[in-house]
Amino acid sequence: MRILAPMEDVTDTVFRRIIGSLAPPDLYFTEFLRADLFHPRFGARMQRRLEFTETERPIIAQIWGNNTADYVMAAARLEQLGYDGIDINMGCPAPKLVKKGCCAGLIRTPNKAAELYAAACEGAPSLPVSIKTRIGLDTPETEDWIGFLLELRPAALTVHGRTAAEMSDPPADWSQVRLAVELRDRISPATVMVGNGDIGSESELQAAAAASGVEGVMIGRGIFEDLLVFRRQGKPWVDQPREVVLDAYIRHIDLHRSYWQGERNFEVLKKFARAYLHGLPDFEPVYRAGMRYHDHDSLIAFLQHSKIPVDSR
Ligand SMILES: Cc1cc2nc3c(=O)[nH]c(=O)nc-3n(C[C@H](O)[C@H](O)[C@H](O)COP(=O)(O)O)c2cc1C
Repeated sequence: MRILAPMEDVTDTVFRRIIGSLAPPDLYFTEFLRADLFHPRFGARMQRRLEFTETERPIIAQIWGNNTADYVMAAARLEQLGYDGIDINMGCPAPKLVKKGCCAGLIRTPNKAAELYAAACEGAPSLPVSIKTRIGLDTPETEDWIGFLLELRPAALTVHGRTAAEMSDPPADWSQVRLAVELRDRISPATVMVGNGDIGSESELQAAAAASGVEGVMIGRGIFEDLLVFRRQGKPWVDQPREVVLDAYIRHIDLHRSYWQGERNFEVLKKFARAYLHGLPDFEPVYRAGMRYHDHDSLIAFLQHSKIPVDSR
């Protein structure tokens, strides 16, 4: 199973729809969603982040936080909205979240992690609940931490082969993912295991799955290197025709404008410029010029104009 990783400010419904139209994964995740913001007093603030289209299925909503009542409430709402599953973030290493005992901070408080898992199951009794985590906080503690999580019998468990302290720096350690699969075989054979970290192509995906024994592989940053990373055949994104490349980016910008209607900053779109454009022979000047625009209309007009390469104008 090929899975698009949850990525904050990246995998919103806009990007999921674009990826779905180019080369869809087998499973989508939302960005991480703060469980307390599901409270009705926050009204519409959460609403747009929660919407999805049928083309983005199957889709798992990922939540984070450390209050069980919030988890029950959030899970109930996600079930009602028709999500296919709920995932709990126990891996984000952002220091201010870890300090608050959220995300990777839960590695230090396994009992709390178990309570949150139970709360999500209670809120959404008909949905599978999964967990995404790392192999430890400061040092690998796969046996203890992953072993503990498997005792909870989650529907699925995603293991990112790094500690929280490692952030995204050293190469992901897939031997720890392999160890996690062995623990699963012993402790919770029904749990679907997903490996994550540094996968950027179909051949790497196949090799990692074969070596570790996971049923699923999750790809995050690899999508920026090849927007077609989930394709079954054909050429990578860098080999696509100029018009296809520019049209896809224009479609993304246009959908961002109509979907978010100003609720999300225009500037987040610039994060995608390299991913779309890096195969163009004149990538550098197009990229640099694109950075000068600060609204949807002018960036789209510039990209339309860029369909004609400079030396043919
Ligand atoms: C921009 C960005 C945002 C991310 N946001 C989330 C998130 O919301 N939830 C989560 O579980 N992981 C998040 N991650 C971590 C990824 O899901 C993934 O675990 C990590 O990037 C390692 O996989 P990769 O090497 O394939 O990128 C994020 C990563 C990036 C680069």
